[in-house]
Amino acid sequence: MSMDTTKNSIVHVLPTLPFAENALEPVISARTLAFHYGKHHKGYVETLNKLIAETVYAGQPLETVIAETSGRFDKAAIFNNASQVWNHTFFWNSLNPKGGGEPPAPLKKKIEADFGSLDACKKELATAATTQFGSGWAWLVQENSALKVIKTCNANSPLKKGLKPLLTIDVWEHAYYLDYQNRRMDYVTAVLDTLINWDFAAENLG
Ligand SMILES: [Fe+2]
Repeated sequence: MSMDTTKNSIVHVLPTLPFAENALEPVISARTLAFHYGKHHKGYVETLNKLIAETVYAGQPLETVIAETSGRFDKAAIFNNASQVWNHTFFWNSLNPKGGGEPPAPLKKKIEADFGSLDACKKELATAATTQFGSGWAWLVQENSALKVIKTCNANSPLKKGLKPLLTIDVWEHAYYLDYQNRRMDYVTAVLDTLINWDFAAENLG
């Protein structure tokens, strides 16, 4: 977060990607990331800053803006852009060039207890990701002590439902269309097998 010189205004900034733009190839191309991060994510940040300038939301942390505009039709544009900023930052952290494989032991144990097996958990994530009609997100979340998989549409996130997000997969077409066209399942399967960041999910466990 960087401060500008205007009194009481936090300007939201595009966070640095936690990997190089070509680090996720061949599953997610540098070209896709150039658009997805460099145009879409950046665009949400810039639009949010414009929308909240000189409003009560100027100067508030991103999570506060999301919580206070959630479910308010008159604030939908602010909510959508703020939540998309948060979701995308969370998504980049949910990916790792050396991802996939096995979760750390404590998370793996919880996954096996709640889903039966790691494969069953991945299958639920893949199903949520591929059955989300139109744009949205698939999430592994924690509700109290239980893990579960949910999907949200458009800009919505589990924060709104009071769940603790552990990881997410972006299934907006802009996430995969350049590389996979309409084959969302191929994109989701490749992400789960080779890029998903179980270490990040484990760090988010409450
Ligand atoms: Fe996206």
